[in-house]
Amino acid sequence: MEIFEPTEAPVFYNPEMELSRDISVLALQAYKDMLNREMSVCEPLSGCGIRGLRYAKEVNGTVKVVINDKNPIAAKLMALNVKLNNLEDKVQVFNREACALMLELAEKSTRFEVVDIDPFGSPSPFLDSAFKVIKSRTGMLCLTATDMAPLCGVHKNACIRKYGSVPLRVEYCHELAVRILISYVVREAAKYEIGVEPLFAYYYRHHVRVFLKLSEGAGRADKSIRNLGYVLHCRDCNHREVVEEVVPSKIDKCVECGSQKVEIGGPIWTKNIISKDFCSKMMDVFGSKHLGKGKRVEKMLRLAILEANAPPFYHIIPLLSKQAGVTIPPKKMLIEHLRSLGYIAVETHFNPNAIKTNANRGELVKIIKELTKGA
Ligand SMILES: C[S@@+](CC[C@H](N)C(=O)[O-])C[C@H]1O[C@@H](n2cnc3c(N)ncnc32)[C@H](O)[C@@H]1O
Ligand SMILES: [Zn+2]
Repeated sequence: MEIFEPTEAPVFYNPEMELSRDISVLALQAYKDMLNREMSVCEPLSGCGIRGLRYAKEVNGTVKVVINDKNPIAAKLMALNVKLNNLEDKVQVFNREACALMLELAEKSTRFEVVDIDPFGSPSPFLDSAFKVIKSRTGMLCLTATDMAPLCGVHKNACIRKYGSVPLRVEYCHELAVRILISYVVREAAKYEIGVEPLFAYYYRHHVRVFLKLSEGAGRADKSIRNLGYVLHCRDCNHREVVEEVVPSKIDKCVECGSQKVEIGGPIWTKNIISKDFCSKMMDVFGSKHLGKGKRVEKMLRLAILEANAPPFYHIIPLLSKQAGVTIPPKKMLIEHLRSLGYIAVETHFNPNAIKTNANRGELVKIIKELTKGA
């Protein structure tokens, strides 16, 4: 038997993405339970079809799933997998270009509660068609982005091209990636007078994924736009400041240390990227599902619930300690110490060595020096 890299195989299948599929099953089930009615799903970039097939099989209340791939070998394999799983009544297979298929379905007035875009790289080329085929009043849009180098600022121009945002190479770049992706969706949705509200978002290995609830109306789109802004990052002291403005006003210097080495990143989504309520619903359905990556999924949900209402942008403790010139304290100790001083302090799923807190970087540097004195 030949072993292929996922992107080199005749048909795409990546066992690494099992966690993504597990989490998505929970998110779709939680969403279906919230809707409290039957649900249809369009997954127009399906590879072998495993994601869509799992939705049909594992999400109670899913009545129709469209799976599609432009690769004819993938389409044949999908049809076979549908048959093997006895899902002919629920699952429809297409062999089309994804945007063409979504627009054609929309033209025939077919609309879906859930549209899941899971491409190689950026989902941005598929968004316009997705907005046409999703039920904009009640839909949930699920997006994967695997183009981490642009989103994390390694390929800045690619990020500007794909997302119309300036990325930054900073320690919290994975969270910034999520916020850039959401901000792009908000701006794209706004032109169709669709509002966007994040339900769940995460970073794991080589991808970020977001689950976004849509709503209809110019007012709702305006409200989402008001949640966009910028991050100002000081290269001298690592202070970060979120500004909620559509256009950034003039920035002279870092408010913390006075340095003029302040970079502007964004536009970004500035508000919560995880809904604690929705995440708790995912945790509720977790018990009734048999997930291959169950343990990992449970850990991620637990952390996501903890960090849902925390302020943006995590601090990586070893980098913070280096800046303060002290030894690295245990994460638990630092969190407890910050809490004893009255700050919010929580772990984050973005990085096992990081925390989120409302203490600013300058305060953190002082606190960590104090804490490790004599250690
Ligand atoms: C990352 S894979 C999909 C993986 C799948 N969703 C899963 O969970 O295993 C992306 C797939 O999109 C297909 N594809 C890429 N561009 C496409 C397009 N414009 N229209 C339709 N399919 C496309 C590729 O052939 C590939 O199978
Ligand atoms: Zn500064």
